Amino acid sequence: MKIRAAVLEEFGRPLNVTEVDLAEPGPGEALVRLRACGICHTDMYSASGVDPSGYAPTVLGHEGAGIVERVGDGVTSVGPGDQVVTLFSPQCRACVHCLSPKTNLCLAIREQQNLGYLPDGTTRLSRAGEPLRHFMGTSTFAEYTVMPEIALARIDPEAPLDRACLFACGLSTGLGAAMKTAAVRAGSTCVVFGAGMVGLGAVAGCRLQGAERIVCVDMAPARLELARGQGATDTLIGGPDTVEKILEMTGGFGADYTFEATGSVAVMRQAVEAARMGWGLCTVCGVAGRGETLDVVPRLLITGRRICGSSFGGLKGREDVPALVRRYLDGDIDVDPFISHRLTLDEVNRGFELMEAQAGIRSVIEL
Ligand SMILES: NC(=O)c1ccc[n+]([C@@H]2O[C@H](COP(=O)([O-])OP(=O)(O)OC[C@H]3O[C@@H](n4cnc5c(N)ncnc54)[C@H](O)[C@@H]3O)[C@@H](O)[C@H]2O)c1
Ligand SMILES: [Zn+2]
Ligand SMILES: [Zn+2]
Repeated sequence: MKIRAAVLEEFGRPLNVTEVDLAEPGPGEALVRLRACGICHTDMYSASGVDPSGYAPTVLGHEGAGIVERVGDGVTSVGPGDQVVTLFSPQCRACVHCLSPKTNLCLAIREQQNLGYLPDGTTRLSRAGEPLRHFMGTSTFAEYTVMPEIALARIDPEAPLDRACLFACGLSTGLGAAMKTAAVRAGSTCVVFGAGMVGLGAVAGCRLQGAERIVCVDMAPARLELARGQGATDTLIGGPDTVEKILEMTGGFGADYTFEATGSVAVMRQAVEAARMGWGLCTVCGVAGRGETLDVVPRLLITGRRICGSSFGGLKGREDVPALVRRYLDGDIDVDPFISHRLTLDEVNRGFELMEAQAGIRSVIEL
């Protein structure tokens, strides 16, 4: 079928919204009619060419939500009419990682997905007979996509898809970091560095876990205001003295849990240093630049601080994403303040400009 999609033709160039071909879903795959897609930093990062593993041409987009239209042979977990959120982090339920409660890093289709192919090593996207690669296994800046069923989370049929799409990446990453990776305990003191989509999600996650005190640190007062709306009890403008300030606020000890959601290795270091002696846990969510390293004084670890990383909030997508969407529908998570702009597919490049200008948290493309 012919679909309209936003194609990254060449690194560093605006996306080209154009017609491409999409083949029928193969075995284990589903055709999804996309209804909404958030614009995330990772899309822009890949478009810029800075990402060493990036490739072009490809159809970008990975924060998608839509409705299953048709399924290929053997598909049992989704069917026509189901509402789904796309998962760049799949869950096959059979690999050694999926069978372990310790990780969400499914191994089933990693290699092919990283190269831009569906699990069988081919593409469903093409143009003038030339294959066009899939991005993050999702390619959701498009009217339709074909994806493996293991990368589709079936969500409540009542969920509005223009909000549900945020659960495909940043929001779930932050929520999961607090709720799953760190599993914040009620009554704790938490510090969240960064108040973008991921950090705000982490603030909300800490609140849902019953944290008593949630300090959010960012450079932008408007974002700190949003953090208060998500449950932050204290806010700080970030700077070289942030750790000192946090130690002061916590009787000299530091926080039970710290979260880093900026991508800056200097801030990661602050997040480690702001964690409490004895048991403070620092969860790193940000993606650092290529070749950058995290500088930590080992004594901080010997004296009981721990550091861990979190990919997609440690969430096993097919189970945990529908559960989070359910909590949104129950009124536990306030999604609307994150959506600052609604755009058409043709306006996708404007979405990148808005992101660069830090205008709002998320632009959502309505399809
Ligand atoms: N681990 C994952 O699975 C995953 C998923 C999505 C995004 N990410 C990464 O998470 C990070 C955050 O993503 P986002 O979409 O929220 O980004 P964002 O750019 O919207 O937010 C980052 C925030 O950090 C703030 N910041 C910058 N320097 C700071 C400092 N010195 N002190 C305090 N705050 C500072 C900025 O003002 C901004 O508000 C990025 O690195 C992104 O690549 C990781
Ligand atoms: Zn993303
Ligand atoms: Zn798996």
